[in-house]
Amino acid sequence: MPAHSVLLAATALLLGIPTVLTLSNGVARLPVLGYNTWNAFACNIDQDLVLTQAKLMKSLGLQAVGYTHVHLDDCWADKNRSASGTLVPDQTRFSRGMNNLTGELHAMGFNAGIYGDSGWFTCAGYPGSFEHEAQDAQTFQDWGFDYLKYDNCNIPFDDIIREGMVGKYQRMSDALTQLAQTSRKTPIIFSLCQWGWEQVWLWGASVGHSWRTTGDISPNWDALASIINFNSFITQATGFYGRNDMDMVRLGNGGLTYDEAKTHFTAWALMKSPLLIGTNLSAIDDATLGILKNTELLAINQDSVQGSSVSPFRWGVNPDWTSDSSSPAQYWSGPSENGTVFMLINTLAEPSDMFFNLTESPWIRAGRQYSVRDLWTHTNNGTAVRNFTARAVPEHGVVALLLKDAGDEPTGLTPCAVWDNCASQNGTAVQG
Ligand code: GLA
Repeated sequence: MPAHSVLLAATALLLGIPTVLTLSNGVARLPVLGYNTWNAFACNIDQDLVLTQAKLMKSLGLQAVGYTHVHLDDCWADKNRSASGTLVPDQTRFSRGMNNLTGELHAMGFNAGIYGDSGWFTCAGYPGSFEHEAQDAQTFQDWGFDYLKYDNCNIPFDDIIREGMVGKYQRMSDALTQLAQTSRKTPIIFSLCQWGWEQVWLWGASVGHSWRTTGDISPNWDALASIINFNSFITQATGFYGRNDMDMVRLGNGGLTYDEAKTHFTAWALMKSPLLIGTNLSAIDDATLGILKNTELLAINQDSVQGSSVSPFRWGVNPDWTSDSSSPAQYWSGPSENGTVFMLINTLAEPSDMFFNLTESPWIRAGRQYSVRDLWTHTNNGTAVRNFTARAVPEHGVVALLLKDAGDEPTGLTPCAVWDNCASQNGTAVQG
């Protein structure tokens, strides 16, 4: 543990404050928003393609609403290292070199991200960084990259690695920390692409800034439902400086209805996942662009006061705490700087009304009423007293609401909205 973390932990212990282990080296306090090449282009990438997508991020107004990163994924490298063992970019596809690319991206106001692997080879068979961690960290920094996605393919045999998953990722984490200290430069953001193995949500925060919790996303409802279900049980791992990464935003590639696409974006944004666009922006449609540019949801994803994810308070169709990869929890809430956020997901294949009592959410005060802001229609929808019903939520659709305290509720209502252990002071009226 670095000296400042030890001090922090010791102070917290003395003051009785619970500590969350974080890689609190000052970067990636909030989720990273940007672009990644993998979903739309896989290995068919080159420098011009990356710059074209970056320019589109600007001209389509995506950078202006907060998407400030552009990341290369796999297949940027030459298959062989140089004689001195350094990584080399593909000579044809990245002929101008990586400094040129990151220079152009920085000049456009973007941070630049690169991809590597903790094993012998990347998932597509390019050189991995195992036993080259310090050298490759230095190379990435020399090339001007600000962010590293670090994959999990081609893990060395046990008698070579003699480490578990934590140790394997710690090697690059240490290399990046060391590099930041010796170079006195901003630390490179470290994103673990590890698909949720070995309960990464329990230790990821002490090693990196985000960690994939599930396998690669596909553009269909089943994949979304399964990722949302899995992550619904580990929302507490997400906070400032470290977060569950639900994988890239897989919009605009077909496979999702408009309502499913909205559900996808809403869940990722409100669960405070990184939001990395994986669409070919040359062919993006207005509806997809509109979803990606929902500034009210982006503001909650980027909330600088409340770092936590929304969490389910009721599963709805299923009994609470049921794990069902085709029918995740339906009723969610969480705190935000400007009020309590609610997310309702209609997991059914038909429209349905969705009802909840306000105080089912731990972030709501009993005896108060709340103004309701709809984060998709961008309208103020009156005042909720005691409960709220969203009417005819479409199949696989979503409702996202921001409830703000609007003072005491009207008088004359029943004593308790939820009759669970409610009692009058003298005990004459007792329920629950
Ligand atoms: C893995 C990762 C993907 C992508 C590919 C590249 O599958 O999970 O996100 O980076 O490797 O080969």
